[in-house]
Amino acid sequence: MPSLSFRLAYIQASPIRRIAALLDEARRKGDIISFGGGAPSLPPPKELIDYITVLLKEKPQRTVSYCGTRGLPELRELIAEDLKKHFGVDYDPKTEIIITDGGTEGIFLALSAVVDKNEEVIILDPTYLGYNEAIKLVGGRVKKIPVTVENGYQPDLERLKQVISPLTKAFILLSPDNPTGRIIDPEFVKGLVDLAESHDFWIIYDAAYKYIVFEEKDTWPDAIPGAKERTITINTFSKEASIPGFRLGYATGPKEAIEAMERIKQYVSLAPNTVGQYALLKFYEDGIKDRYLREVVIPTYKKRRDLMYELIKEYLPEARTVLPKGAFYFFVDIRYYLEKMRRDDEEFANRLLYRKNVVVIPGSHFGDMGKGHVRMTFVSETEDRIREGMKRIGAYVFSYL
Ligand SMILES: Cc1ncc(COP(=O)(O)O)c(C=O)c1O
Repeated sequence: MPSLSFRLAYIQASPIRRIAALLDEARRKGDIISFGGGAPSLPPPKELIDYITVLLKEKPQRTVSYCGTRGLPELRELIAEDLKKHFGVDYDPKTEIIITDGGTEGIFLALSAVVDKNEEVIILDPTYLGYNEAIKLVGGRVKKIPVTVENGYQPDLERLKQVISPLTKAFILLSPDNPTGRIIDPEFVKGLVDLAESHDFWIIYDAAYKYIVFEEKDTWPDAIPGAKERTITINTFSKEASIPGFRLGYATGPKEAIEAMERIKQYVSLAPNTVGQYALLKFYEDGIKDRYLREVVIPTYKKRRDLMYELIKEYLPEARTVLPKGAFYFFVDIRYYLEKMRRDDEEFANRLLYRKNVVVIPGSHFGDMGKGHVRMTFVSETEDRIREGMKRIGAYVFSYL
């Protein structure tokens, strides 16, 4: 076999896919309770699915054909209206929005468009595990700033100043956060925008969970003066519309950045999924999206979140965690138990699956600061199964005490 590209030598396989493979394997064993991947268990709005059926029947040709690389103009218009309504931000749907194959492609296109070889991208530790290798894949270098439970996982501006260098090209901001559920402090965002202006770097704002908030509203950095010309936002329909399999999302940004992302996308995937985009026109129609989030998604997930919080306190009283204000996850510091069990978080997760058929994600997958933690999602299982899963975790840990 001829050799593979050298690029791959320093790119690790995504733990997300490893987790998915583990889950597939585990499911074959039956009775698996998953607090693992962040896939919503709620079905998408019924109107959306009904509409696809009608479209495929009545306009099959149009529904399955290619669209332009930036996606359907009418969908981009609806997105612009939606962002204006909810965050007070203005985007020109013709030039400042591109539809992507999920947030994952959005992140890759944004990084490819702005980062040159050896330039630095600053991320938090712990953070979503989709950034590190993508930065390396486009030739960039990863710089990290730690965040801790003591300050509610809020990044510190002074720490940020210490890692900014002449090579800094971008900062990835994620709010609400995966894995910690924190919502970013608006004061940090203001400071970040000032630093991005004075040191001339990009803010890549991953807004994957912008509508999954339980008490307070999220901060949209573009609303801050000076931010818009240096911010690319990454959005996904996987979470807010519960359609991860459609692989659809969108990015917003200055027209030059969107143009660059479009040029790259032409050679990566040509155009986004047409069927799914037509279905999404319905998502925005007649207030379906807002109603779905307000009446179905948020109340369901909030109840599950509150339940899991109580159960963590009951079954793992020595664990430390904070009640997530947004997104889908608890990030739980279980170092007290790991010490008694003489295991690390990876061994804990593997043994828990083997012994009790419960999936949790090792915290170390999210960075060095995540060691000794596990991430548990509360959106994949019903309340009864959350109860059962937490009981099993409690029994597993108790057997070592
Ligand atoms: C923070 C964050 N960004 C991006 C993504 C990518 O999502 P998708 O590619 O399904 O849009 C995820 C998925 O879990 C995520 O948690």
